[in-house]
Amino acid sequence: MAQPTVSVQMKKLSETIGLPLFEQVGRRIRLTEAGREVYAACQDIFQKIVDVEGRLAGMRARPAERVRLAVTTTGKYFAPRLVGRFCAAHPGIEVSLAVLNRQALLHRLDADVDDLYVFSSPPEEGGVEVHRLMPNPLFVYARDDHPLAGRSGIPFSEVANQPFLMREPGSGTRAVAEAAFAAHGLAPIVRMELESNEAIKQAIVGGLGVSILSRHTMAPETRRGRIAALDVEGFPVEREWFLVRLSARPLSQPAKLLIDYALRSDVLSELAEAET
Ligand code: PGA
Repeated sequence: MAQPTVSVQMKKLSETIGLPLFEQVGRRIRLTEAGREVYAACQDIFQKIVDVEGRLAGMRARPAERVRLAVTTTGKYFAPRLVGRFCAAHPGIEVSLAVLNRQALLHRLDADVDDLYVFSSPPEEGGVEVHRLMPNPLFVYARDDHPLAGRSGIPFSEVANQPFLMREPGSGTRAVAEAAFAAHGLAPIVRMELESNEAIKQAIVGGLGVSILSRHTMAPETRRGRIAALDVEGFPVEREWFLVRLSARPLSQPAKLLIDYALRSDVLSELAEAET
């Protein structure tokens, strides 16, 4: 800008602010206190613009190198291992992993937030592409010194007589437990409602009650000890894990690579073995 234009702009800025930005000292001019404030703020603002431009340029340069994956709280017991193996095989691809309960995951699917989802019962509405991953059996668990532990063919009514540790509303695990009680025309004696499988395991060990959980929650590296799967009639409830995507969402190349990788039989059998 030519110097007179700058002077006009500075004068207008000073008028807008309602304070002088410069003062004359002898033959020189210097910033007033207000001028120094405005100058510092402008530097911050310009730096922010530079930063955001850099981040946006990064996104524009590699939009296709990221996959957004969202899994249920129970899916977190195997999904990070799947992502770890995938990222090792494809070092250029970043994967973000969100962990939520089933209901929250359904909301994200509706809002088209993620490329891929892992559900333990695929959404009922249409418009989704569903790939079967592996079995997800749910057992009744109790502390290993519980009177029902070690018995065989336990009628469900005996489980229903025990204080029960229930997952929060919106959980797919809770839906299975509620269906089991409903199928027998019984109501659970809910001792406590907990939002986490890990907290339920701790509560079982603490002697607070029994619960119905996915076997994946009992993977060796997360086992809390002193927990036994009960031999209850009608159990395990055989569910499965599914990889789901919205059919209408354009399929990026990395998301396709992740689907293909997750469906490889050697990958699936290794993930499933780690649970047993
Ligand atoms: P959740 O997940 O209990 O963590 O919601 C299991 C499922 O999808 O059924």
